[in-house]
Amino acid sequence: MSSTCVVGLQWGDEAKGKIVDWLCDAHDVVVRYQGGANAGHTVVAEGVTYKLSLIPTGILRPGIGCVIGNGVVVHPPAFLKEVETLVAQGVDVKGRLHVSDRAHVILPHHLAEERLTEESTSSADHLGTTRRGIGPCYRDKVGRVHGVRIGDLYHPERFRVHLARIVEYKNRLLTAMLPDFTPFDADQVAEDYLGYAERMRPYVNDATSWLHESLERGQRLLFEGAQGSLLDVDHGTYPYVTSSNSSAAGIAAGSSVPTRHIDRWIGIVKAYTTRVGGGPFPTEQDNDTGERIRRIGKEYGTVTGRPRRCGWFDAVAVRHSARVSGSTEIAVMLLDVLSGIDPIQVAVAYEDDKGREVKNFPANLADLEKCRPIYKTLPGWQEDITKARTWDELPPAAQTYVDFLSDQVGVPVSIVSVGPERTQTISRGPRTARP
Ligand code: GDP
Ligand code: IMO
Ligand code: MG
Repeated sequence: MSSTCVVGLQWGDEAKGKIVDWLCDAHDVVVRYQGGANAGHTVVAEGVTYKLSLIPTGILRPGIGCVIGNGVVVHPPAFLKEVETLVAQGVDVKGRLHVSDRAHVILPHHLAEERLTEESTSSADHLGTTRRGIGPCYRDKVGRVHGVRIGDLYHPERFRVHLARIVEYKNRLLTAMLPDFTPFDADQVAEDYLGYAERMRPYVNDATSWLHESLERGQRLLFEGAQGSLLDVDHGTYPYVTSSNSSAAGIAAGSSVPTRHIDRWIGIVKAYTTRVGGGPFPTEQDNDTGERIRRIGKEYGTVTGRPRRCGWFDAVAVRHSARVSGSTEIAVMLLDVLSGIDPIQVAVAYEDDKGREVKNFPANLADLEKCRPIYKTLPGWQEDITKARTWDELPPAAQTYVDFLSDQVGVPVSIVSVGPERTQTISRGPRTARP
């Protein structure tokens, strides 16, 4: 056992990409197991910024194998464009990138279906999605009748017949629901997708067997979560979630690798909280503090450019997600963004509308809406900490703050990040997890 998972414990954008990149030296293969091009993972290495969406972050490290697992939903043009961009940036992808033939395909009608719900007249239907067709594709996957897997694209005759039936159904639905809808031409869609499939041929394989053979050769896998545990379709703030198990719960189903192979379970958090899109956010600061965090932390979505909502760290929410994702250690990211904010607040519990203390994160939005955070106030620090490279170089107030988060969540903090660069990372060394 020497595999690791890196999973977000908030609502996404916790800087998972940076930590996956940082851990690559100790691993052989990076595996994405859920989500799709809704993810935006940023890595800054030697002054160059890379943005990964569908392709595992490990692609930036020569020699690392990269797997897009069966649980991912793949939009072929988005995949091909991302490969092209990486190649243009000088990244060698040859022989290193594996797309599971079991992964599902995002088709043009998925994007139209998402437009339908996101632009419907009832604002209650709006989730504020990334509009990458993620939800509709997963819906068709579990619905079974209209799903298409990557491997299906290599059986052109069967694919054409299947697609014609799907497109006929979707055209009828979308024509009835969208006034300006131009029906899809099934033959054209088939031609386009068979063309993409040809270009993707070097990458597509039976990733399940490939991964298990890698494990048998003693290779170390690094699972790269996308989104965050609070966006998990089962464990997050439903329905304001994504359509996959974006907590660690999705790893086995989405990769085919049983989690008994994993011994490091790293939960990633920001030193504060952000959320992009709709949904509850108890510690949101829609005020000068939130604005300051957004400005200093450059909190704008990697995929959509939307301003991220910003607020204080929510220990109630993270305790829940650390449990669900089995975190044995935590990385606290973007600590530098809090420099100069004094005092700092952390939600340690909630109080409901009857004045009762709520310690566990409520499952239901109606209950969560009634909750107000109970804050603990901690002293801030003024120093610029972006040059700190060891724990001892952090100001005492910053150390106290990180230790407080660890105590509140009940999981040791093993990594602290003080800037976007690879090198701006403080390792506190291996720590023992709580029993
Ligand atoms: P991901 O989706 O979880 O990989 O996170 P994103 O890449 O969407 O967002 C994290 C952002 O924070 C990126 O722009 C990173 O370059 C940046 N970042 C990562 N770590 C730090 C840090 O410690 N300090 C600061 N200031 N920025 C960071
Ligand atoms: P990374 O991997 C932050 C959010 C969307 C929306 C909800 C559903 O970069 O952390 P979807 O398009 O998935 O159906 O949208 O989930 N969302 C993210 N928020 N980071 C992400 O990915 C996200 N991926 C989806 O904003 O609220
Ligand atoms: Mg992101």
